[in-house]
Amino acid sequence: MNRHCRIIKCILSGVVCALLLPVSMQAQKNTAFIPGQVWNDTDGNPINAHGGGLLYHNGTYYWYGEYKKGKTILPDWATWECYRTDVTGVGCYSSKDLLNWKFEGIVLPAVKDDPNHDLHPSKVLERPKVIFNKKTGKFVMWAHVESADYSKACAGVAVADSPVGPFVYQGSFRPNNAMSRDQTVFVDDDGRAYQFYSSENNETMYISLLTDDYLKPSGRFTRNFVKESREAPAVFKYNGKYYMLSSGCTGWDPNVAEIAVADSIMGTWKTIGNPCTGPDADKTFYAQSTYVQPVIGKKDAYIAMFDRWKKKDLEDSRYVWLPVLVKDGKITIPWHEKWTLSIFDK
Ligand code: DGJ
Repeated sequence: MNRHCRIIKCILSGVVCALLLPVSMQAQKNTAFIPGQVWNDTDGNPINAHGGGLLYHNGTYYWYGEYKKGKTILPDWATWECYRTDVTGVGCYSSKDLLNWKFEGIVLPAVKDDPNHDLHPSKVLERPKVIFNKKTGKFVMWAHVESADYSKACAGVAVADSPVGPFVYQGSFRPNNAMSRDQTVFVDDDGRAYQFYSSENNETMYISLLTDDYLKPSGRFTRNFVKESREAPAVFKYNGKYYMLSSGCTGWDPNVAEIAVADSIMGTWKTIGNPCTGPDADKTFYAQSTYVQPVIGKKDAYIAMFDRWKKKDLEDSRYVWLPVLVKDGKITIPWHEKWTLSIFDK
């Protein structure tokens, strides 16, 4: 090959590489929800946001969840310590399309130098949820804050000026002097916010109106599903009614989901049954509810978010996101191997 040819070959291979590179980068874009598969963020790392919840703010979705890093610590029956990972903090991702998520960092980090702090790695931090307070302009995070033996049963609150933090930890307490484990928060159309939490040793679900700044319980609360042992609450509003998806209490192992409906958010709640359909619907597709997110801009479109826990390797627990379909007032969550938001256009 003469010098001329070599130069032309070099230029051509450069052009081919330049053309191929963006194609291969585009190939990494997520184009569908694939429940149970490893779901990579825009950097190509598995999304790490367990027991999470979403917030839609100014055209962007934010996904907050337990950033479970490292080895799972197996139960130690001598100390009653349960399956857990060290607390790393709460991770945050952002997205415009609900499929492709950019890692925004650990927005509430663990506190490594104080063994007594709620956020010390030796403790447990679960099910963080963030709501925006229009009056104060603050982003408020509520989470389940635990000891390694799960006896603390408290709610922790943190506040930020931006959806991507940093969140400043405000402390923990038992809301309404009652135990608080699995939990979520929900903002109603009138701006009032409520915490739903499994209380009384997980036997009864409390619904607690928060103060106007969303930082504390207001003192008004109701006891619901008394002695029915429901956890993993996920709340949404459809057609003027309130719906709560929840699981039974079987630790990290799956069980059958239930959905309940109420005309008024503080109750009375009526259980309707299992909304899941398809293979393994009686085991919630081997997953557990964590949040229900309305798809902004689409009518009657909601996504149910579940965690498929891997109790011996909690970091590798997977996400199961499925459409919530509403037809003639009936709500179903059908299994799909793969789906897109176009399912709501039919
Ligand atoms: C089930 C809860 O839903 C999870 O968040 C976690 O607390 C596990 N139990 C612990 O066993």
